[in-house]
Amino acid sequence: MVRYFVGITGASGHAYADRLIRGLLEAGHDVDVSVTEAGAKVMRHELGIDPGARGEKLSGELTRWLGPLAARVRAFASDAVEAPPSSGTSLTGGVIVCPCSMGTLARVAVGFSSNLVERAADVALKERRTLIVVPREAPYSELHLENMLRLARLGATVLPASPGFYHRPRSVDELVGHVVGKVLDRLGVEHARAVRWQGLPDDQQDAGTGRRLPPDPLSDAPRDPQSGGAPGMTGAPA
Ligand SMILES: Cc1cc2nc3c(=O)[nH]c(=O)nc-3n(C[C@H](O)[C@H](O)[C@H](O)COP(=O)(O)O)c2cc1C
Repeated sequence: MVRYFVGITGASGHAYADRLIRGLLEAGHDVDVSVTEAGAKVMRHELGIDPGARGEKLSGELTRWLGPLAARVRAFASDAVEAPPSSGTSLTGGVIVCPCSMGTLARVAVGFSSNLVERAADVALKERRTLIVVPREAPYSELHLENMLRLARLGATVLPASPGFYHRPRSVDELVGHVVGKVLDRLGVEHARAVRWQGLPDDQQDAGTGRRLPPDPLSDAPRDPQSGGAPGMTGAPA
């Protein structure tokens, strides 16, 4: 059992945070969570959870949000800079900022820690522990790209919220699961619902050249009954 810190910011995509936290808990791990002030507004809007202006009410909302899994979650207000994740002496398996706004990304890239999420990320960098940021913005400005490069060079993993379509997702949940599966893979956390690419299926090979054809996204072909996913994939969709 490992404790992870999930920082939730004011970027859109709180479904990713929801799915990530559930994935960590379902794998038997503990989770510390903090939401920034802007993140609290987006959480109310996207997840229907009211964490209070500074995330101070999130602790009281955990059971309604996560059910029995909430027992292994500690929630901290955004200004709780005295909380354990603020110190390098508090061990963690990794800090994940998901979704990560361009504002938080910039502040972490220059070591400007104005709240607990930024401080936890700063601690991960200084202790050379795992830091994963899941940015969500479009398009990226040069400044955004520079900040991402800076973080990558500092050892962080920049894992954008940009789901792939090669597993032929049929729901938003599958798209979200694709990104979250990559975060969990990066952390080395097992997740049984992973979709693993096995190459294109045989029925998509060009008979004349042997070249593989792209899958037909509009095909009504039934999903692989064993995997529950598109042909060529193993495991049910993440
Ligand atoms: C509904 C909503 C969606 C937003 N989506 C994004 C986004 O996807 N990416 C982003 O960088 N900022 C987004 N913002 C703006 C950030 O919330 C804003 O820049 C904020 O200052 C970020 O603060 P934080 O980094 O402390 O969370 C959004 C704001 C709102 C209200």
